[in-house]
Amino acid sequence: MIAYLNGGYMPLETARISPLDRGFLFGDGVYEVIPSYGGVPFLLDAHLDRLGRSLAAIRLADPLPGAAWRQMLGRLLEKNPGDDRSIYVQVTRGTAPRDHAFPASTLATVFAMVSPITPPGSALPETGVAAVTLPDQRWGRCDIKSVALLANVLARQQAVDDGAVEAILLRDGFLTEGAASNVFVVANGVVRTPPLTPAILPGITRALLLDLLRAKGRVCREEPILEAELRAADEIWLTSSTREVLPVTQLDRQPVGHGRPGPMWREARDLYRKTHSGAGMESSDDQ
Ligand SMILES: Cc1ncc(COP(=O)(O)O)c(C=O)c1O
Repeated sequence: MIAYLNGGYMPLETARISPLDRGFLFGDGVYEVIPSYGGVPFLLDAHLDRLGRSLAAIRLADPLPGAAWRQMLGRLLEKNPGDDRSIYVQVTRGTAPRDHAFPASTLATVFAMVSPITPPGSALPETGVAAVTLPDQRWGRCDIKSVALLANVLARQQAVDDGAVEAILLRDGFLTEGAASNVFVVANGVVRTPPLTPAILPGITRALLLDLLRAKGRVCREEPILEAELRAADEIWLTSSTREVLPVTQLDRQPVGHGRPGPMWREARDLYRKTHSGAGMESSDDQ
């Protein structure tokens, strides 16, 4: 795989950064993960918008303004031909003597790599996946896509140790999101997901699904969801750019609804797939 680092393209194994990089020392950086289908980044504008908002939130000037992100990502995909890819992009506050406060001047570190996407296998979504609930121990700005992911890493590992694929996080008795996904619940035909607050990442997949389902006339509500409502849901889904829409059929070892992926999930999955395999291939402005 060919990676991009600070203006150059190189085999991933040869890419090097300094141990004084503030991303390494402090987790002082942000990132994006952008799926690409058939060589075309999916919902690129929405991902670049969110990257811009993450950079602004940590007071880091955009190192590739204007069309430069698009040009770099286009070249990176050309150098890594293939169908379904996920592009990982990371920007840190660069290299400087170690001090918590920002250095007077640094050059941001910009890194990007491409990996094969492994969308949920055909068998997996048909049976659904297991998830566990855990306390949300993250900071108060989960709307920033920060590379400081220790709490997410520990939560995901706890889920894996418990034989599950995701940790669903609860804060003060309310659902927030997954360790690396947004969460939807369905009850009595109504689709619900927590509202956009600093407690969750504004997922691109989340936004697209809400648009697609509302356009089909489905009732979708962005509102706080109690732990008890999560546990009583007919359906639970996880959404993310790489996992798409994944049905959770077991929560804390108990069946969700009838213990099988539900009809609303099937509809949502089909709508999502149709969008990325068809007309929605080009990037969209409205996410
Ligand atoms: C904490 C968290 N929430 C939600 C998501 C889903 O976001 P998106 O749909 O933009 O991939 C992710 C993606 O990795 C995530 O890490």
